[in-house]
This record gives sequence, structure tokens and C-alpha cells, in this order.
Amino acid sequence: MRVLGIESSCDETAAAVVTEQGDVLSDVVRSQVEAHAPYGGVVPEIASRDHARAIVPVVREALERAGLAIADVDGIAVTARPGLAGALLVGLQAAKGIAWGADKPFVGVDHLVGHLLAVRLRRPDAQGVVRVPDYPFVALLASGGHTAIYRVDGPDLTQIQELGATRDDAAGEAFDKVAKLLGLGYPGGPAVDRLAAEGDASRARGALPKPMARRDSLEFSFSGLKSALARSVAARETPPTGAEIADLCAAFQGTVVEALVSKTVRAARQEGLDRVVVAGGVAANRGLRARMAEECARREIELYVPPFSSCTDNAAMIAYAGALRLAAGERDGLDLAPSTKTALARVTRKGGGRR
Ligand code: KG4
Ligand code: ZN
Repeated sequence: MRVLGIESSCDETAAAVVTEQGDVLSDVVRSQVEAHAPYGGVVPEIASRDHARAIVPVVREALERAGLAIADVDGIAVTARPGLAGALLVGLQAAKGIAWGADKPFVGVDHLVGHLLAVRLRRPDAQGVVRVPDYPFVALLASGGHTAIYRVDGPDLTQIQELGATRDDAAGEAFDKVAKLLGLGYPGGPAVDRLAAEGDASRARGALPKPMARRDSLEFSFSGLKSALARSVAARETPPTGAEIADLCAAFQGTVVEALVSKTVRAARQEGLDRVVVAGGVAANRGLRARMAEECARREIELYVPPFSSCTDNAAMIAYAGALRLAAGERDGLDLAPSTKTALARVTRKGGGRR
């Protein structure tokens, strides 16, 4: 089965053709980063308009690169939730139009499920080796919009259980806000990551609290960390210099990474599982990759970190998640509406604790 997937939930317009085995026949991502950069964050109205411009060319390119006509694909999958409503609508309506016009089966996909299954895409690494985890596994999903730990027993919504999530900001959101505060531009994650490698965390750590360090909790909280950093910068007489900014980045990143790593490893132990997956845009972070690899090796946990192209927003993960639904005989109607919320059951309330 070959499935065309479409993704437009935030600031990437993407289309891909993937088989239900996870083979990627094409994978096209058009980023809107430049359009949003002057505003220091994603502007929903600009996102919707840019998706409207890009969606048909991106889909056409995905089909061309796969060497297929629309008649050759076996179904259409599209991100239906969660995301910006106006952005989701563009991809959703494009997918419905194609499904209707070409008379193809159609399914909506939850973006978070896409991120969690991206690790099962059969993308060869630099050595040409394909390595994907079997179920069940524990997954850390850390992106610009979401940060949570899941137990994944299979690809269906009912087989994915949230173990704990952030009470406030997502990890990527915290990276972006700290970058903005330090004048590093947007998106902030990659810039902080780069500078953290040059900085010395011990020179700046005093300014930062430990986020949700309670040992028994699988929840995160990052907004206090960001506020503490903002206060320490505001209290200075002169703005931080280049080397001081690097030290602050190292301290901030180190603190976030420790929380992400220690809670993910604890979740694996709690669930009695020895397979851990890292997903979402923040999984591109070099500090996180290194620390997670270290801790997992120490505890004899098998770690699966997808290649960068599978971590950040893409349509291959949506096509794959959709292909599994279609292969299981599932279909959605052409009256499917977008939602800003995930369909996954949540245990952590925003601004509060466990339900
Ligand atoms: O998964 P993603 O592409 O989009 C969402 O669904 O949110 O994640 C984007 C987020 C942004 O907040 C970005 O700053 C962060 O991932 N990010 C990183 C790195 N690369 C991207 N954060 C830390 N280190 C990185 N290297
Ligand atoms: Zn995402």
C-alpha cells in the first residue's frame, strides 16, 4: 500500500509518499521559517496563507519524486489535529479534494501519533543501516507545541498512553523563548544548541532552578526556568556578552536535558521496558542525544533516535500513521473537521497536576 500524506499543522507545508511497511518513497518539506522569523514566532494568519500558496506544488513534487501519479496511490492521509486551526484546514481540505477527485480512501491522523511512529520509518542511517524498534516502547515526545512521555504498545490511539506531560511550556517553546530573550532569533532551539556546545554551564547555573525535580513525578515544568533566566538577565547592569550568552545557553540546555533524560529513563523503569524512543523537534538537540545515549547505555536500555528528517515536522510520519490506519480498514468521512487538541487521552492538565 502506497499512501500520500499531507502535513500543515504549524509552519511546515509537507507531503510524502510512504508504504505501510514504512518505506519512504518521497518526502518533501517546505519550511515557512523565513516568513515568521521577523515576528519571533509562528503567526497563525501568515501560516495559513503560506500553506495555501505551497500546498499544491508540494503535493505535486512529492508525487513526482515518488515517480507516481495520483491514480497510483492507495489512499490519502492528512494531519487533522492538533495544530493551528487555519493551518490544519488548508492541508485537510486539499487532502479531501484529492481523495474525492481521485476516488481514494481518506484518513485523518493525529500529529502526535505521527511523531511517535516516525521512529518506525525505514530510513537508512549514514551507514545504510535500517534500525527500527518493536512495540512496546517508552517515547519522549518533545516539540515546539508538546512535551510528554508515552508508553506505546502499538500504532492505534488506544495503544498509546500518556505517562506524564508538561504542566506549562513545551520544551521547544522554552528553547524558543530563551533564544528570543538572548537575542538569538527564531527558531531558537538550534541556536541555543550551537552556543551551548561552546559555553560552560557551571558559570551560569546559579541563576537557574531545577524544573520539576521531584523524583516520583513524570511531569515537566519549564516556564519557571525561563522566568528565572529572564530575571537574571534583567537584573544585570549590562547585557550578557557573547561568552556569557553561551554559558547561559549551556546552563539552560543542561537543565532541560537533565529533566527530559531522567524522567524518560524513570518512565522506562516504571513500565518495565528496555526500549526508549526520542521524538519531536527537540530530539534534534545534540545535548539531549548525547545525554540520553549515555544514560540508556548505563542502564542497558536500547535507545532509538530517528534521523533529523524524522524528528522535525514532516509528512512521511503522517503518511505512515495513515497507511497503518488504512491497512487496518479504517476510513474517515469527507466531513472530517480539524481540531486544535490531540485525540490522545491526557493525564497532565496544563497549569495543574495529574487528572
Ligand atoms: O516537532 P517540531 O518540528 O514542530 C512542532 O510540532 O512543534 O518542533 C519544533 C521545535 C521548535 O521549538 C525548535 O526550537 C525545536 O523544536 N528544536 C530544537 C532543536 N531543533 C529544533 N530544540 C533544541 N535543540 C535543537 N537542536
Ligand atoms: Zn510536530
